[in-house]
Amino acid sequence: MTIELRRPVHDPIVLDDPERLSFRVDRRAYTDEDLAARELTRIFDRCWLYVGHESEVPAPGSYVARDVGGRPVVMARGSDGVIRVFANSCPHRGALVCSQPAGQVRSFRCPYHDWTFSNQGDLVGVPIPDGYGPGFRKADFGLARHQSDSYRGFVFVTFDPQQPRTLTEYLAGATEYLDLVDDQSAAGMEVIRGAQLHGAQANWKLMMENSVDIYHFRALHKRYVGYMESLGSVPPRRRGGFGRALGLGHGANELPPAAARPLAYWTPMFGPEVRPRIEATAARFVERFGPERAQRITGTNRALLIFPNLMIIDAIAITIRKIDPVGAGRMAITSVALAPRDEDPDIRELRKSHYLTFLGPAGFATPDDIEIIESCQRGYLNRAVRYSDLSRGMNKEVPETTDELPAREFWRQWDRLMHGDDGHHEPGRRAGAQGAGPR
Ligand code: FES
Ligand code: FE
Repeated sequence: MTIELRRPVHDPIVLDDPERLSFRVDRRAYTDEDLAARELTRIFDRCWLYVGHESEVPAPGSYVARDVGGRPVVMARGSDGVIRVFANSCPHRGALVCSQPAGQVRSFRCPYHDWTFSNQGDLVGVPIPDGYGPGFRKADFGLARHQSDSYRGFVFVTFDPQQPRTLTEYLAGATEYLDLVDDQSAAGMEVIRGAQLHGAQANWKLMMENSVDIYHFRALHKRYVGYMESLGSVPPRRRGGFGRALGLGHGANELPPAAARPLAYWTPMFGPEVRPRIEATAARFVERFGPERAQRITGTNRALLIFPNLMIIDAIAITIRKIDPVGAGRMAITSVALAPRDEDPDIRELRKSHYLTFLGPAGFATPDDIEIIESCQRGYLNRAVRYSDLSRGMNKEVPETTDELPAREFWRQWDRLMHGDDGHHEPGRRAGAQGAGPR
């Protein structure tokens, strides 16, 4: 890789100029294949990356197999109840040990030569073992295990053997928002079975920016706004709420009051029959958390970006969206819905319906988002305009949701890591600092 030679230090990608209230990103960041390859080693091999939710492996032997940071992995709950993340690659000659996306097993059997591994990763069986000498020890050929940890049910993995941070340190101010998600049920939250796997012909960072961008909501999603209004609900306002930089590239937007939440914020679009129960649930939240925190948990819309590639959109329903690069100009998107475990069946149906209507890949909003970021990617082909502008809100003490503070936080961390910087934070933009100053 000769990227340093092609891109000398005087030719930066991110131009961050707080004095001029200017923040620009060179569009090569979205189109350059060398940069895309470098992101895998500088970012995805160094950060903590989201793998899945503990509820996806509820019983001993249950597992999910998916790609994380470009690497196939298996997240499995062993017979001992412990969740582990393994490399999905046979220690013998490399085949995927697990080819199903999810299931429940006592052992994993590699289809190539039938080596068998326990659901705790130990090699337990090798056909025709007399072909190996006395130095062959099964203990040396278990599934490679990655360092993993979880926070409030969200499981992350890191491929960095020198990872300097614990998961909680890495999540920085984002823990506050994961708490707001997980506090939505005393019985725990669970991923609703099934995932939506889709993609876009655009750079992965465009989707990260888009998912935390409220500025576009009324402009781009006019059909959905019209749909909400036709059902008697009030779409999110143009002004208000606030954006936050949560440290280490994480950011959030928070918009009270919520447009609607099947959990505990009734609006007419849900229909009158569920109103008493949704309002009773809201009252229970007030008893449990007090009025202020209850309002924050149940009565706001939030978009949380966890660097580099996890979005949790906690709006009309909760979606967990994992976005993975496929070269510079493509991405893979995995979306699942999260819900309270103890939700009434008909409220669950309501949630699923609104999840699909708004956030699903064939809903009112997501196709608009995919189409517009693909349009941006196409626009970059005309190289006459070199930079994209992300300066909205740099002139404010506390930027609003329609400003671009969370995206700037993302890009600042991207820039630090791409330069090999460890990513420690500057004063004034520390983890959890609300509003994060005038930048
Ligand atoms: Fe798995 Fe040979 S590659 S058993
Ligand atoms: Fe959108």
